[in-house]
Amino acid sequence: MRARTVSAAGLIVTRTTSAPTSVCFQCLRHDSLPSPFPVQSRKYHPTRRRDASPFGAAVSAAQTIFKGMPKAPPGISVDPLRIVGKELKFLSKNIRQLLGSGHPALDKVAKYYTHSEGKHMRPLLVLLMSQATAIDPRKLPAEQSNPSPVDNPLSQPSILDDSNPDLNPLVSRATESHQYNIAGDDNILASQRRLAEITELIHTASLLHDDVIDNAVTRRASSSANTAFGNKMAVLAGDFLLGRASVALARLRDPEVTELMATVIANLVEGEFMQLKNTAQDEAKPVYTDDTLNYYLQKTYLKTASLISKSCRSSAVLGRCAPEVVEAAYSYGRNLGLAFQLVDDMLDYTVTEAEMGKPVGADLELGLATAPLLFAWKSNPELGPLVGRKFREEGDVQKARELVYQSNGVEQTRLLAQEYADKAVAAISDFPEGEAKSGLIEMCEKTMRRRK
Ligand code: FPP
Ligand code: MG
Repeated sequence: MRARTVSAAGLIVTRTTSAPTSVCFQCLRHDSLPSPFPVQSRKYHPTRRRDASPFGAAVSAAQTIFKGMPKAPPGISVDPLRIVGKELKFLSKNIRQLLGSGHPALDKVAKYYTHSEGKHMRPLLVLLMSQATAIDPRKLPAEQSNPSPVDNPLSQPSILDDSNPDLNPLVSRATESHQYNIAGDDNILASQRRLAEITELIHTASLLHDDVIDNAVTRRASSSANTAFGNKMAVLAGDFLLGRASVALARLRDPEVTELMATVIANLVEGEFMQLKNTAQDEAKPVYTDDTLNYYLQKTYLKTASLISKSCRSSAVLGRCAPEVVEAAYSYGRNLGLAFQLVDDMLDYTVTEAEMGKPVGADLELGLATAPLLFAWKSNPELGPLVGRKFREEGDVQKARELVYQSNGVEQTRLLAQEYADKAVAAISDFPEGEAKSGLIEMCEKTMRRRK
């Protein structure tokens, strides 16, 4: 089992004049689950020195720092949507503002998925993580407690030559409907709010591309963008979202966060490339080995958990949190991201299209061997040739589905997802009690309960 112990002191940054003492925390130990992810310890960042006080002082600092945050009564679960609901209310509108184009067709396609009701799970997590790791704004250096200039370009606008009619002050600020909206939560920095928007932009860009690759007809119970506008416009709109997300990222003026989030984009593509094959082996005659699940989990990390983990991490980096808090935020996101995708792959075998709002049973049809099938393959070697030919022959999909149901592949997937969800909860166990922490825990429980 992987376990971590982080002292309460480790969660807090105090800027004392005493000599820096490093906070005692144990690194993650090796995992009983097949894990392709080496645990990385965060290197001491010379430009972001985090001095920690001795234990007792830090605990009392913790009590002072977090005393203003709403508390959830122990044992009572909270609705994560309610905690940051006001912020989320403005998310889609603010994202559309980042996506304005003078070209009417591009403007329309780029904003298309922002009109349908998505779950907004990724930005919700960023906002909850920002709250849960908030340091009292009075303790932050002045430039950080003031709204950060997240809209300010670094280059001359004439050089950038990227007109956005929705941000042009002459056009947009004149009308209220174009104003950037915030709920004004003191525990969320402007940069963290913008990070939430960037996270959703990257996710939406990946969906625009994914629907072309998967030839999807519907998305969120409506026509997919490729169906509505064609493949070319859908791909180009996705590229445009990545462009505007990159601009917004640069304007956060944090190289570490830029590195993390730019890497997510590379990870998404690499994950999608890994998914083009079901195993690392030659596809002619694949056999189930110990590496089979590791390959799938690595693909799952790149395709899904990377965005969630690195955006949670970035939220803590922007909040100038202590290194062990940054690690805890990352570990939470990584484990929750893996649980989320495992559940997604399980639901593909268990729910109806009407419930999901998108085609189900699609993975086998697309030739994909996900966790339920892999667990079935382990005890049914005859699935090997079907995996190798991507379930292309008549009767393959049906046979594979039957073996999955017979061999408890679905239940084993759920159990593995539960292990990751539990690890996500454990990762933030030393966060101070409060509504935001309860919201993060509830997100793990919701992930396990979800039907769509
Ligand atoms: C949904 O998977 C897709 C992803 C989580 C990532 C897709 C990534 C790419 C297409 C690479 C390009 C990335 C960018 C940023 C342009 P799914 O097909 O399993 O889920 P679905 O059923 O919702 O379609
Ligand atoms: Mg898809």
